[in-house]
Amino acid sequence: MASVATEKTGDVKDLGLAELGKRRIEWAGQSMPVLRLIRKDFIKAQPLAGLRVAACLHVTTETANLMITLRDGGASIALCASNPLSTQDDVAAALVAEYGIPTFAIKGEDHATYYRHLNATLDTQPHITMDDGADLVTEVLSKRHDVTAGIFGGTEETTTGVIRLRAMAQQKVLKYPIVAINDADTKHLFDNRYGTGQSTLDGIIRATNLLLAGLNVVVAGYGWCGRGVAMRARGMGAHVIVTEVNPTRALEALMDGHRVMAMAEAAPIGNIFVTVTGDKHVIAREHFEKMRDGAVVCNSGHFNSEIDLEALERMASSRREARPYVEEFTIKDGRKLYVLGEGRLINLAAAEGHPASVMDMSFANQALSLEHLAKNRGKLPVEVFAVPADLDQRVARLKLEAMGVKIDKLTPEQERYLSSWQEGT
Ligand code: ADE
Repeated sequence: MASVATEKTGDVKDLGLAELGKRRIEWAGQSMPVLRLIRKDFIKAQPLAGLRVAACLHVTTETANLMITLRDGGASIALCASNPLSTQDDVAAALVAEYGIPTFAIKGEDHATYYRHLNATLDTQPHITMDDGADLVTEVLSKRHDVTAGIFGGTEETTTGVIRLRAMAQQKVLKYPIVAINDADTKHLFDNRYGTGQSTLDGIIRATNLLLAGLNVVVAGYGWCGRGVAMRARGMGAHVIVTEVNPTRALEALMDGHRVMAMAEAAPIGNIFVTVTGDKHVIAREHFEKMRDGAVVCNSGHFNSEIDLEALERMASSRREARPYVEEFTIKDGRKLYVLGEGRLINLAAAEGHPASVMDMSFANQALSLEHLAKNRGKLPVEVFAVPADLDQRVARLKLEAMGVKIDKLTPEQERYLSSWQEGT
């Protein structure tokens, strides 16, 4: 793969894209007022002075604004991609050429390049790791024992990563404290629900230009992401079918007004399938066997293992690119099934990920959590813990302020009432 590489400055596709990347980074920054305020504070207080940060995140315009904030707070950063297909090459170029932030990321990079890039960030001997999916921590714990001693904390952005990290903590192999950004209310209630909801449909539509109205959209998984995708698909006029393994969530989907059934039942009637479960092989051979001609399958969960693509490859007599991000598989019985974005996160592969105004809150949590880690260096237990509640609420307050929304305050009488028990019927 042709790339622009020096060991220190990064490895990006084309530095000539930097000017476009800079303009797009600035555009996104305009919708990130909370991060802007934090950056202003960071410039004065320098809470990250002298710290080296290795970040493995989707390389987008929003992530660029976070990296600039951390840099301005005193950190030296090295950034790599958290998915081979999510990098915005113009942003990677701008980070290197315009902002002096070493970035190792090329859209479409192969598996070996992905891991070479990840290791390049670890070669900087970081004090803090930032993950989206826990690949960086996994590499540190399984292979890069040379850097473990120097790391005093990390953050994790997403549901899948938090699940992996909790498994590490439970098996007592985790070596340093991790802040679970995903667990902040101002993250998952907004980013997972409204961010994934909108950007997933954006990815499907950009890739296919299908009209959703009147189609059966099957949403696998009714966590915060699934709720968002189902809500937005309904808003576009689709008939939404939800599949779930959790009975409470299945009931919630039903009472939210969606049809709920097993994937085996949904397979023959779905037009578009979206997986957002965090689990593997949610759509498998037995489901492909029943799908109708022309069915479209995609994933918006973190890893590309939710759809059993190997099974589909074995079932197909031929395959070709129907259009960018749309692969057509012709099955031996003549049906054509379509897979979007290689089964990787469709919102980042075919669109631009979540909009900046929602990433504003997620990344405000990231920045404040890095400050928290730095302030409490050496004092935190080696476990996976939530963003401290006061930081989470500060993000909500700042976001409301930025949106010009004022809310009520408890009166002294109400405060007394809420902490008493004597008043009743
Ligand atoms: N995850 C989902 N959308 C994203 C975005 N725009 N930037 C970084 N990470 C993301």
